[in-house]
Amino acid sequence: MSIHTDVKSVTVATLKKMKAAGEKIACLTAYDASFAAVLDEAGVDVMLVGDSLGMVIQGHETTVPVTVDDIVYHSRAVASRCRRALLMADMPFMSYTSTTQAMVSAARLMQEGGAQMVKLEGDARQVEVVSKLAEHGVPVCAHIGLQPQLVHKLGGYRVQGRERAQAERMIKDAASLERAGADVLLLECVPALLADEITAELDIPVIGIGASGGCDGQILVLQDVLGITPGRAPGFVKDFMEGQRNIPDAIRAYVAAVKVGEFPDEGHLFK
Ligand code: KIV
Repeated sequence: MSIHTDVKSVTVATLKKMKAAGEKIACLTAYDASFAAVLDEAGVDVMLVGDSLGMVIQGHETTVPVTVDDIVYHSRAVASRCRRALLMADMPFMSYTSTTQAMVSAARLMQEGGAQMVKLEGDARQVEVVSKLAEHGVPVCAHIGLQPQLVHKLGGYRVQGRERAQAERMIKDAASLERAGADVLLLECVPALLADEITAELDIPVIGIGASGGCDGQILVLQDVLGITPGRAPGFVKDFMEGQRNIPDAIRAYVAAVKVGEFPDEGHLFK
């Protein structure tokens, strides 16, 4: 049984049409029903139940401890008030190490959590998983650039793709993931010119975070937009509560800034 019943909801096809029409896609993370209602009302196009919940909800240092059960729990809550936006849910660390495991995890996120798209981190090594999910009717967002689930391998959170060889690999990976059937690409923490190049190369929508205003859409973590990031906020983050009376106004200001291309500005991206 699908939790979504509104036929006017944003779909994968809507996102593709938005890219073709040059209409920016406004995305935000959401973790509960109350905020989902506010975001939906404010015109957010895509809500992501991100594994960032490990940090902003559960208080962990990284996203690594988050489980499929955690995402299902929060996704159900968001789905209950997500009427128009497309609901995307993160495949957590080690929940897609094989095509079989990925299909079981995706099935749980969609059937129990009400997600309409799953997001997974990974470059060309995820092509087989993306292809299998796509073959079985699972809409997929492939997340490249900085992959926070690799934090213990990377030794921290850093801009990715500054060296030409890495940038060229990323361009090839993006094309491979699109060919494998990814419906959306998410680019995190990459130089703006590289983000622009990838966005221009792909037919599928490219959503940026710490990437470029030239991407087809933007996403931020809700707590960052509300100025309540635990610890130090990343440099690409903007506090939209500044100058606003309340939370719904701040979310509307974020959506408007993305739609008219005012966010991200030069101060919120990487060279
Ligand atoms: O988990 C998350 O919130 C994310 C965003 C940072 C894109 O993946």
